[in-house]
Amino acid sequence: MKIRTFEPCDLRGAKDALKSAFYREDSDPLFNEWAFAETLLGSGGYLPELCVVALDGEKVVGYNALTKARIGSVPGLALGPLGVRREYQNAGIGSALVRECMRRAEEAGFPWIALLGGDYYARFGFESGKPYGITVSENAFDNDHLLICFLDKAQKGGVSGRLTYCNAFYDADGNLL
Ligand SMILES: CC(C)(COP(=O)(O)OP(=O)(O)OC[C@H]1O[C@@H](n2cnc3c(N)ncnc32)[C@H](O)[C@@H]1OP(=O)(O)O)[C@@H](O)C(=O)NCCC(=O)NCCS
Repeated sequence: MKIRTFEPCDLRGAKDALKSAFYREDSDPLFNEWAFAETLLGSGGYLPELCVVALDGEKVVGYNALTKARIGSVPGLALGPLGVRREYQNAGIGSALVRECMRRAEEAGFPWIALLGGDYYARFGFESGKPYGITVSENAFDNDHLLICFLDKAQKGGVSGRLTYCNAFYDADGNLL
């Protein structure tokens, strides 16, 4: 298994991996994580060095991206989409993708990474944004699932307010997709 920076030739494999990870019978044909990943690549939030794939030989089996974000006026990163092909799950690939992105983000000097997600992320040091007064929308469910990891521990408690993703995460009315 190898993890490296996403390259344009990986697009089809990355979308297939995300589809394998996220597809459900009732998946929205218009908005889904694999189409969204492609949209993100063409957006102003895309950071090429912070977008990685996991390969089994030549086959893309996992994908993770970090994109530009802000909390208030403090720049940081948003994590996702993250997905591992179904038949490759529970073998440490998701963890390896997240840890590699976190390593690169820290090396690049980003102070924090935020995301909307669940229990999986606690193992990497993500915690609720609530005690820090960080929100992502007016929606309580979204805010309950807002997680943050402070790469720069000195920023803990010093970052507060609304998390803003790059434009690709919002519809024409400014609502989170
Ligand atoms: C979530 C995902 C990326 C994890 O990748 P993975 O390679 O299977 O994960 P790892 O092998 O690194 O870690 C496996 C561990 O994570 C746990 N785990 C996996 N998905 C989880 C979830 N949704 N919530 C909590 N724990 C989860 C497993 O139970 C396992 O726990 P253990 O270490 O105690 O045995 C992968 O399962 C996936 O693509 N899921 C579908 C898409 C998705 O939910 N993406 C994240 C959206 S926020």
